[in-house]
Amino acid sequence: MTTFHVEPGGALRGRLRVPGDKSISHRSVMLGSLAEGTTRISGFLEGEDSLATLNAFRAMGVDIEGPDGGRVVVRGVGLHGLKAPAGALDLGNSGTSMRLLSGLLAGQAFDSELVGDASLMSRPMRRVTEPLARMGARIDSTEKGTAPLRIHGGRQLRGIDYELPVASAQVKSCLLLAGLYAEGRTCVREPAPTRDHTERMLAGMGYALEREAGRVCLQGGGRLEAVDIDVPADISSAAFFLVGASIAPGSELVLEHVGTNPTRTGVLEILRLMGADIELLDERDVGGEPVADLRVRHAPLHGIDIPVEQVPLAIDEFPALFVAAACAEGRTRLSGAEELRVKESDRIQVMGDGLQALGVDARPTPDGMIIEGGPIGGGRVHSHGDHRIAMSFAMAALRAQGSIDIDDCANVNTSFPGFVELASAAGLSVVAG
Ligand code: S3P
Repeated sequence: MTTFHVEPGGALRGRLRVPGDKSISHRSVMLGSLAEGTTRISGFLEGEDSLATLNAFRAMGVDIEGPDGGRVVVRGVGLHGLKAPAGALDLGNSGTSMRLLSGLLAGQAFDSELVGDASLMSRPMRRVTEPLARMGARIDSTEKGTAPLRIHGGRQLRGIDYELPVASAQVKSCLLLAGLYAEGRTCVREPAPTRDHTERMLAGMGYALEREAGRVCLQGGGRLEAVDIDVPADISSAAFFLVGASIAPGSELVLEHVGTNPTRTGVLEILRLMGADIELLDERDVGGEPVADLRVRHAPLHGIDIPVEQVPLAIDEFPALFVAAACAEGRTRLSGAEELRVKESDRIQVMGDGLQALGVDARPTPDGMIIEGGPIGGGRVHSHGDHRIAMSFAMAALRAQGSIDIDDCANVNTSFPGFVELASAAGLSVVAG
């Protein structure tokens, strides 16, 4: 079991580039595999989650070179060129792989089976299997609606008009991928904006989409043309450094080439509302995705009521934001975020327990948390195998009064290989043991 030991205090300084965006990396391999022609990817996240997707497509006969220094070459087989895998596809810890693949595989001629680690096998999959069944798919799951998912091939799917009950980009993307194989039109309405990388990449590959506020539709039976993809650095990985530099006096960091898609920038908005000093430099467009360098300097933070419309736009950043709230003056309140309970861990409970173990007044609620800012003590916390919990508590040490030991940190490699080295180079006293 990997444990992080983090010494208290210090500041974060310098320029750094965090690894590639996880959501875009998954989609680059999926859509590159289904495209006609060769997709050359740079900046690909060489983390276990996106590698699980890459290996799944190799297992379905796609010729993929790399990754090598973030470069991947995918020789697309077209929408109907995938082959039956020899065994179950093991997607490790990756919910994005499982939910997006379930839609894509429901439209294939062959049967397939999706499995993963203990966390992934306990996460809710009915949110994808139910709408896919309405499209004519046949997918067997456990009685609880969890994986293994056994997907029956050879079914002709039909387009549906589906209103998402929860704001989820994974479910939206799953249905759009199934829609590529469906007869007629597939439309997805979302209750609040969620990340739109699938829509942007489909459009970039020449697939016609109709987009209007809160709704996206596509017609089955088109084709995708390969394009080169430059994956920006992941704002969700940058978030740990945005929080770390904001809370640690004397910090100043520039985070290079970070994706700033407006469906992902809730963390910037929330931190700025708390008083953070974050500037976007050299804003540019890279292959249909906005990118900027982010400059962050230490600033005194104050507690806020987090605007509920920001929740889906910052859904992966709440573990880090809870640490910011613990260091802020006054009370921070989050509500409307019950989805945090079904992520890689129950992020409300696990963060609440860890913050309390460090002496912070953090009170979990069914759909959020109430945190009173104040001193952070040292101690031992458990990440429950959740990468974002581990990295958030590592940053908390910058303001702690004693050292922090964080158990069960191996899964940091799912999204942020090299975290310990990069954070150490910036000034955090962290070692993995
Ligand atoms: C993701 C969507 C989000 C997010 C996850 C990645 C994606 O999940 O939490 O880390 O790439 O589509 P939900 O769709 O469950 O909100």
